[in-house]
Amino acid sequence: MATFVKLRLSKAAHTLAGRYYTSNDVFEQERERIFTHDWICVGREEHLEQSGSYFIANVGGESLIVVRDANGSIHAHYNVCRHRGTRLCETAGGKFTGSIVCPYHAWTYGLDGRLMAARNMRDVPDFQESDFPLHSAAITSWEGFLFVNLAERPQPFATALAPLVGRFDRWNIRALREAKRIDYDLACNWKLILQNYSECYHCPLVHPQLDKVSPWDSGRNDLGSGPVLGGFMSLRHGTDSMTLSGHSGRPALPGLDAEDRERVYYYEIFPSLLLSLHPDYVMAHYLTPVAVDRTHVTCTWLFDPGQMVQPDFDASDAVEFWDMTNRQDWHVCELSQLGVSSRAYTPGPYAHAEGLLHAFDTHYLGVMES
Ligand code: FES
Ligand SMILES: [Fe+2]
Repeated sequence: MATFVKLRLSKAAHTLAGRYYTSNDVFEQERERIFTHDWICVGREEHLEQSGSYFIANVGGESLIVVRDANGSIHAHYNVCRHRGTRLCETAGGKFTGSIVCPYHAWTYGLDGRLMAARNMRDVPDFQESDFPLHSAAITSWEGFLFVNLAERPQPFATALAPLVGRFDRWNIRALREAKRIDYDLACNWKLILQNYSECYHCPLVHPQLDKVSPWDSGRNDLGSGPVLGGFMSLRHGTDSMTLSGHSGRPALPGLDAEDRERVYYYEIFPSLLLSLHPDYVMAHYLTPVAVDRTHVTCTWLFDPGQMVQPDFDASDAVEFWDMTNRQDWHVCELSQLGVSSRAYTPGPYAHAEGLLHAFDTHYLGVMES
């Protein structure tokens, strides 16, 4: 049974130095140590329903073709031809008809990455098609989320993110389906978004609508260190979901107990997935750092497919509530980027309510300095 506590700082803690948000060298180092080393969420398995379905994922500065093959297996191939290196696929997603064909000289790869045909190469000395499959990265599915790992010898997912294993079974997230997705481009460093997500000290000012539904100081956490951080916040008495009215016509997800129905759980999964578990839906954000001061964020809203087929199903109350809240957050994240880029910025003291930010910084620095 998880124990949830109100976090308090045991001693003074301060925000990160400015270079962590502004230095291209730090950004490069993060690619090496984090984004080409850790498990990175790239999307949902439901987007690859058929053989040949694919989408392009950008991880650690690399373009990857995430595709389902004819046997049902999912692969993450580098988007790089084995002939002269040309980018194979330019479109963000779609369906291959059985093979991946390079636009330059038509080398043709199977969905599993095998080189099937290379024009006029048969009598080239020492050439064998079997020597030139697409390079691939490790990929795994957890609760319907696809995670890619670019490391040569990735740590097993269940070891790297052990706190996740079995933790959210009650929501049966694997079975949920996406009702809405919104993409955002932010002018800030990726860490500012995770830090913003990890506290509600800002909520009464930045999110008056959210504060009406869920008190800013109701946060209690069961994971206060390591790669997965978070806990829950309570819904105010008489409300049942995060919408502008505090209500939704939807029933709670079937596996939840009475306590879960009065809470929203928020977890930050290092380095780039934010998971928000509501009584009647699950929201996820995945982050893609683009530059030291640019980040792409995808936000997705997942619902019970049994509810989605109802004629009166309407996700807009949840989507509008969080799209508004997201934009309120993105604004202060961008203001933070401007401020921490100033020569006048020096690390400032964290409040008790920002204990998870200190935990995030501690984990991040541990990874960067290891
Ligand atoms: S570069 Fe791809 S076939 Fe030549
Ligand atoms: Fe916020």
